[in-house]
Amino acid sequence: MCGIVGYVGDKDCASLLVEGLRKLEYRGYDSAGLAVETSAGKVGVVRAVGKLANLDAALAKTPLSGKTGIGHTRWATHGRPSEANAHPHVAGNVAVVHNGIIENHVELRRGLEAAGVKFTSDTDTEIVAHLVHEEMGKKQGDFASSVRRALARLRGAYAIAIVCGDVPETILVAKNASPLVIGIGDGEMMAASDIPALLAHTRDVIFLEDGEMAVLEKKSATLSTLDGKPITRAPKRIDWSPAQAEKGGFKHFMLKEIFEQPRAIEDTLRGRIDVTAGEIVEEEIGVTATLAKKIARVYFVACGTSSHAAIAGRYWVEQLARIPATVEIGSEVRTREPVFGPGDLVVAVSQSGETADTLAAVRTAKAMGAHILAVANVLDSAIPRASDGALYTHAGPEIGVASTKCFTAQLAALLMLAVHLGRARGALSKEEARRILDALLAVPHAMRDALEEAEHVKNLARKYARARDMLFLGRGTGFPIALEGALKLKEISYIHAEGYAAGEMKHGPIALIDEEMPVVVVAPRDAHYEKTMSNLHEVRAREAQVIAVVSEGDKDVVGVDAIRVPVVEPEVLPLVTVIPLQLLSYFIADIKGTDVDQPRNLAKTVTVE
Ligand code: AGP
Repeated sequence: MCGIVGYVGDKDCASLLVEGLRKLEYRGYDSAGLAVETSAGKVGVVRAVGKLANLDAALAKTPLSGKTGIGHTRWATHGRPSEANAHPHVAGNVAVVHNGIIENHVELRRGLEAAGVKFTSDTDTEIVAHLVHEEMGKKQGDFASSVRRALARLRGAYAIAIVCGDVPETILVAKNASPLVIGIGDGEMMAASDIPALLAHTRDVIFLEDGEMAVLEKKSATLSTLDGKPITRAPKRIDWSPAQAEKGGFKHFMLKEIFEQPRAIEDTLRGRIDVTAGEIVEEEIGVTATLAKKIARVYFVACGTSSHAAIAGRYWVEQLARIPATVEIGSEVRTREPVFGPGDLVVAVSQSGETADTLAAVRTAKAMGAHILAVANVLDSAIPRASDGALYTHAGPEIGVASTKCFTAQLAALLMLAVHLGRARGALSKEEARRILDALLAVPHAMRDALEEAEHVKNLARKYARARDMLFLGRGTGFPIALEGALKLKEISYIHAEGYAAGEMKHGPIALIDEEMPVVVVAPRDAHYEKTMSNLHEVRAREAQVIAVVSEGDKDVVGVDAIRVPVVEPEVLPLVTVIPLQLLSYFIADIKGTDVDQPRNLAKTVTVE
């Protein structure tokens, strides 16, 4: 997730573009840059690593003056945060900013290098600049048709803005699976990844759809499909306040991020799965097949929400790769005298990549000869840097302190890892792998269905918002989801909540159950269904009110507040069953009026012991 902006009009645009980027900093902030047409036929570029203040400083040293330009604030996916990897990327007179992931970047890059192109960055985006430059050089048709031919060679997700010195006072924008909105001004046009960047200039916008492009000039926005068919679309008027606009119309970042999960999963899976072969693309996963065959034990380390993803990861690695696996919270690894050695694959799971306890565990394990794989959301953060390999989730920046989309992206990444290990070691057949990978690719759709229950969950939240304690139960991979449901509730609503393995209830927590203790049971139709149902009945028998997360069509669960989730393959259930629990916590917290995005005493990144 990155932020892009563009302007063409009569104003000097550098500072205007930077202001637009400032409104998009929530989308990425590891580097930023501008490309501005400074004189006829000339495009000047200024870029800087770090937050926008650094770009301001760079522009103070090297001012860019001109009335047509594009800008970018980056959240790295390919290539570490550095000035060379910052956008815009340039080839000849063409400058490009991009938000998304180009799936076939490796083969395109090889082709361009073979033709003599010299790359100056590690990004997938630079390829786009070279392809457009190459097509412009053929002088077949106009700017738009050159870009069309270039884009036809790409697979993946993009929102792109391009300026070309040979085509003054023009910006070309295109979109496939990443957002792009055009702002219609009076004698000026803008483009941006999101509405907040436009609101200072106009409230009349046109949303570009997937497979569409537009040529922006001062007084016109000419829309067409990527295969050249003209489109007519009237602008829409946006009446959101600036604060609402920043959150995409949602009341809180957390709610926005809950709803962003289908996209986060799509981006995390993008370009990594070969369903026909029943394989994961090895270069994307951070563990080679050769190494996979040598692993004697997988040891997950993580904290908080990430440790819940790790528990699901453990279950999958054991089931699909038949490797002994264990999970430990980071702080305990540094407290004990653990034994690691060659043959151990230590998987450090951390959305921030900076958590001090997880980092310390990584260093301990590495010093003892284990191979370390980081599963992180922030490229080039401390944990991936201290590791031997990295498997990045592509959830984009998460602003809400309570993790949601990063958690499900971690689940997707860990399931891919388990499939990869299973295939490499011959423990998982091609047919089984295909079944699971197909199911994984269908998760975004299932998540969208699960999110449609939001209104129903909100009504339940009204009923349960006054609870003092709550218990969450689940079995199999439903267990980490019960833990996560309880953690979300306590983090943001300050209601005391515990997550338990459903089978463990009778070993203690059952003593707490009465009519004052609502119990949330994760009970989808899986291999554990009947046993979980027995637990549910034990709870009901003690007068507790039950909220049950059940599979669509399940008519056997009666006398409870049921929340239905779509029927999916058992391996991907946790990615779907967690959604109603995230929503329940969110709505309860909102009813209680707590600070949902910044709950008391919590920090997004915990860099202290
Ligand atoms: C999640 O909602 C929490 N804020 C917290 O438990 C978090 O998961 C934990 O601090 C670990 O963070 P990490 O994933 O960045 O390592």
